[in-house]
Amino acid sequence: MNSILQTLLGLCHASTIRRWSARLEKCFTISDLERLFERRIPPVVGDYFLGGASDERTMRDNVAAFEQARFVPQYGVRSDSIEMATTVAGTPIRMPIIAGPIGSLRTLWPQGEAVAAKACGEAGTICALSTLTGTRLEEVKAASPHDCWFQLYLVGGKEVAVKAIERAQQAGYSALVLTIDTPVAGLRYRDKRNGSAEAINGGIFQKLMFAPQMMRHLSWLTSFYHDGGLMDFPNIELPGGEPMPYADIGNQLQQSAVTWDDLDWIREVWQGPLIIKGVHAVHDALKAADAGATAIVISNHGGRQLDRVLPTLEMLREIAPRMKDRQIEVLMDGGIRSGGDVAIALATGAKAVLIGRAYAFGLGAAGEAGVRAALSILTAELEHTMRQLGCQKLEDLNESHVLPCRPW
Ligand SMILES: Cc1cc2nc3c(=O)[nH]c(=O)nc-3n(C[C@H](O)[C@H](O)[C@H](O)COP(=O)(O)O)c2cc1C
Repeated sequence: MNSILQTLLGLCHASTIRRWSARLEKCFTISDLERLFERRIPPVVGDYFLGGASDERTMRDNVAAFEQARFVPQYGVRSDSIEMATTVAGTPIRMPIIAGPIGSLRTLWPQGEAVAAKACGEAGTICALSTLTGTRLEEVKAASPHDCWFQLYLVGGKEVAVKAIERAQQAGYSALVLTIDTPVAGLRYRDKRNGSAEAINGGIFQKLMFAPQMMRHLSWLTSFYHDGGLMDFPNIELPGGEPMPYADIGNQLQQSAVTWDDLDWIREVWQGPLIIKGVHAVHDALKAADAGATAIVISNHGGRQLDRVLPTLEMLREIAPRMKDRQIEVLMDGGIRSGGDVAIALATGAKAVLIGRAYAFGLGAAGEAGVRAALSILTAELEHTMRQLGCQKLEDLNESHVLPCRPW
């Protein structure tokens, strides 16, 4: 009986891959992918990806800051061959766009993390795997023909984190990303309003309340059960060796704040490049440089942690000039929704950008083909923008190409 059900679910998933990949033909921008994501993913799952902290001001501001920035092109310059390759934390990448760590990708698509890593690797870039993911880190690395990074949360305590770091090292991850902007979990009112806790932990009657929205998203539902239903967190191995259950994660995150003192033992265990993610201001950027980090990611977690902090483009404008004489690479994320946004970030001083929702939208819309689409949209738009600006190489992009954000 079980194997008949599995076969049926497998057939449904194969049909989902075909039908939803075909819909990508009409996706020309990341917003198109977002609309497709919202069609396929039920709101109780999708809100986790779409939402931000509290009133979501910072989440909106991240995008608005890019929307308000304007270009100043330099014409009459040859731009027939565009060079977009660069190296970040010692890893060569084909374009300055990296997939940032996103938790719970497996709720969007079967083996979502491995699928995203494969698409990124084949496009010639890095995928950063979150600690809070449903696929074993070894499988994710094996799926990518390129380097991957491992993002660390201290959930479960030091011993659990040491085990994860050692596994990441053995699996061949090339850099460790330490996220510092999660002293507590963000206030996610969307998730409270939509009842996601009841959907996960509730009894049968509470779960039945979600039946109508599931019926409208059957393609998601069948793929989700084809993949085994609600995932655990196999990269957080509890002392007995079993993975942390999904339901425990909220409480665990509350107890996993990172301090600068933790860097000492983390660096002892992790001998490779260390990237500090979640830097908001010059003082923390300087601390990261003093601690010997290879790179910082200027990031407010996509507006999911502390609402009312500045948009990251503004932070970048403050921090990047102050880091020019330090031996540290400056990366940023937050609000990147087009290749034009990538060009603005690079012209403002970032060496490369991380994307979050942009590729999650692609994954939720159509799996591997969706992630490929997100990367190729951003890359093609970046190339087009560079030609228009008269820049042949990434280093040609500078402050003279961008006007500061203004409320138009
Ligand atoms: C659904 C979701 C889950 C995330 N999970 C993590 C995570 O596990 N670890 C982490 O360091 N950042 C996490 N982030 C933050 C992203 O790495 C990145 O900073 C952010 O998405 C960038 O903003 P953008 O989505 O506007 O591109 C998450 C973001 C989203 C949207």
